[in-house]
Amino acid sequence: MSEITADRTQDPAVEHGLAPPGAASDRLAVRRLTLTNFRSYPTLRLGLDRRPLVLVGANGAGKTNLLEAVSLLAPGRGLRRARLSELVHHDRPDDGWAVAATVDLPGGRTDIGTGMVKPEPGADRAERRAVRIDGATVRGPSALAEIVAMTWLTPEMDRLLVDAASARRRFLDRIVYGFDPAHAGRVAAYETAMRQRLRLLRGGGGDPAWLAALETTMAEKGVAISVARRQVVDRLDRACAAAETPFPQAGLRLLGAVEEWLAETPALAAEDRLRTALAANRAADGEAGRTSTGPHRSDLGVRYLAKDRPAETVSTGEQKALLIAIVLATARLQAAERGAAPLLLMDEVVAHLDKSRRNALFAELQALGAQAWLTGTDASLFAGLGDAAQFLRVDDGTVIGGEK
Ligand SMILES: Nc1ncnc2c1ncn2[C@@H]1O[C@H](COP(=O)(O)OP(=O)(O)OP(=O)(O)O)[C@@H](O)[C@H]1O
Ligand SMILES: [Mg+2]
Repeated sequence: MSEITADRTQDPAVEHGLAPPGAASDRLAVRRLTLTNFRSYPTLRLGLDRRPLVLVGANGAGKTNLLEAVSLLAPGRGLRRARLSELVHHDRPDDGWAVAATVDLPGGRTDIGTGMVKPEPGADRAERRAVRIDGATVRGPSALAEIVAMTWLTPEMDRLLVDAASARRRFLDRIVYGFDPAHAGRVAAYETAMRQRLRLLRGGGGDPAWLAALETTMAEKGVAISVARRQVVDRLDRACAAAETPFPQAGLRLLGAVEEWLAETPALAAEDRLRTALAANRAADGEAGRTSTGPHRSDLGVRYLAKDRPAETVSTGEQKALLIAIVLATARLQAAERGAAPLLLMDEVVAHLDKSRRNALFAELQALGAQAWLTGTDASLFAGLGDAAQFLRVDDGTVIGGEK
């Protein structure tokens, strides 16, 4: 177990001129993080200040595991999309895992706890993720979107702009949670109704009234999902195009059937259309084992504006730079609209940047007042951050501080 205790009387963000006194609370930052039986960490307690973090350590040291723990302070399955049981430390497979954090928010501080709850022996239920906010159990992880806005970039996302639309939708939805926290509940309700409907249809029918009720939920939530995504994508598109940074400008557009309907008709008419389409497709959906229409089929279209080309046709390095540009534009817009930049988890992002882009990223993170979590195997790449970041060394399930 290791501990780093930040000096609470003097906020280094103020001390180092990163935030004027009094404005320091206008930040979203993890101040305390406790892991129990989580991946390679039997126990870990960290006290942190509000500055960006640099986590340096050898391959396999536990850097991504730490970011993954933080990613579970948001709705969803975390940045590896792992099953809950995979997160349990190998040596104690019969115990659960837990992640607890104290988080500074604009105007307050909140305690979040999350962990795996195992079903009773013999119960016909899978394990589930429990969430507590300020000591009270909440209904599901969706409630976390009300507290923590977060976005991440990982090496697995290098092909995000090329591969299947599902990962781009998840990336976009996470961004939308940061502007419109109710979006998380909407997405969860839509997906639950979609799964229930498919289960009935696969089973060869189902009560038509029950199917109709599920389709009504899907239509209402589905159109609300598209509307919320569209509002954010429009604003983000403008923010990306207006950005003047060394990162490329991105053009963003939402693509999909529901989006096309919404361009032509009011939301209520789009709901009717989606409900009608779902009812008409029951047999085909049951046979195919998938739902043919709805916002779960939409995509985020990204263009590389300087070349006026679709993002999937530019180089891998250019695509990575585009993703960073989108994440930074998100953070800027959120800081302006909601008073604080989101947490930014950037796993192995810095190693791929040349020096000028590295320094531009560091400058931007400081200007945003974002608590970014940056990882790398080589501390020297982060020298440009100087005192603007807290440096932690990660080593085989332990973390020690003070490293520069
Ligand atoms: N459930 C688990 N229980 C115990 N250890 C685990 C568990 N899951 C992963 N690990 C271990 O955690 C280590 C990987 O940690 P992590 O992915 O965080 O490394 P990293 O510091 O990000 O390395 P890299 O620089 O290679 O990305 C591996 O040694 C892996 O075996
Ligand atoms: Mg890693």
